[in-house]
Amino acid sequence: MHLLILGRGKTGSLVAEVAQERHHKIQVLGAADNPGGSGLRADLLNSVDLVIDFTIPAAVIPNITAVVSAGKNMVVGATGWYNEVPRVRQLVEKHNTGFVYAANFSIGVNLFFDIARAAGAAPLYGYLPQIFERHHVHKKDAPSGTAIALQRIVKDAGRVEPEITSFREGEVVGMHEIVMESANDRIYLCHDASSRRGFAEGAVLAAEWLAGKKGFFDFKDIWRDVA
Ligand SMILES: NC(=O)c1ccc[n+]([C@@H]2O[C@H](COP(=O)([O-])OP(=O)(O)OC[C@H]3O[C@@H](n4cnc5c(N)ncnc54)[C@H](OP(=O)(O)O)[C@@H]3O)[C@@H](O)[C@H]2O)c1
Repeated sequence: MHLLILGRGKTGSLVAEVAQERHHKIQVLGAADNPGGSGLRADLLNSVDLVIDFTIPAAVIPNITAVVSAGKNMVVGATGWYNEVPRVRQLVEKHNTGFVYAANFSIGVNLFFDIARAAGAAPLYGYLPQIFERHHVHKKDAPSGTAIALQRIVKDAGRVEPEITSFREGEVVGMHEIVMESANDRIYLCHDASSRRGFAEGAVLAAEWLAGKKGFFDFKDIWRDVA
């Protein structure tokens, strides 16, 4: 495929690396090439098969609007825009395109979501759930999109919304902990990412899976098909 990657940052540059290793042709736009989505011109979009976004919360909605309105399929890894999900879904349906998004494209975290779903019933048996997330000091949004996804999973399973505590420390790639405490014991569940490559591999696999498809997909519902 001919992929247009938005963002030359920590994750976007790894997406470019993984895509090249998997023999895709790539083009990359950074912030200076694309202020307010202005680099996403029709001639550029017409020449690519799919766009992958790993930019920043302030940039992602103009990017989505330009790409989807041009009828192109898109994979979005950037976080911090989820209050706009209903509007983006409508846009995708209106333009009959394909769209995959995730707060976390790592296969390990998606397995962790399943574990959280099973353990999330603990509040029904007297456990108080809490979520702790740690990321590098450069991360622009808090709490992380992954922590918010875990909060929703535990709330759906255990009918108690866990509080999220965010820490920003050094160069931590991404650690998420669920702690469930009762009067008698404590249960700890933890996922600790050691490399950003897992995010990049998941995003490229999602792009390959999305080729030729239409519809609005959350990676947590399709990761088993792409992995
Ligand atoms: N879904 C997942 O699996 C996953 C995993 C990791 C991170 N993320 C999310 O992905 C996003 C990026 O994370 P990161 O750690 O890679 O951040 P980062 O290193 O800060 O990279 C962000 C990049 O976006 C670029 N950018 C800003 N506005 C742009 C625009 N209009 N067009 C093109 N590029 C633009 C910036 O360019 P300049 O350097 O030129 O300013 C920067 O290189 C964040 O929202 C993060 O939460 C998601």
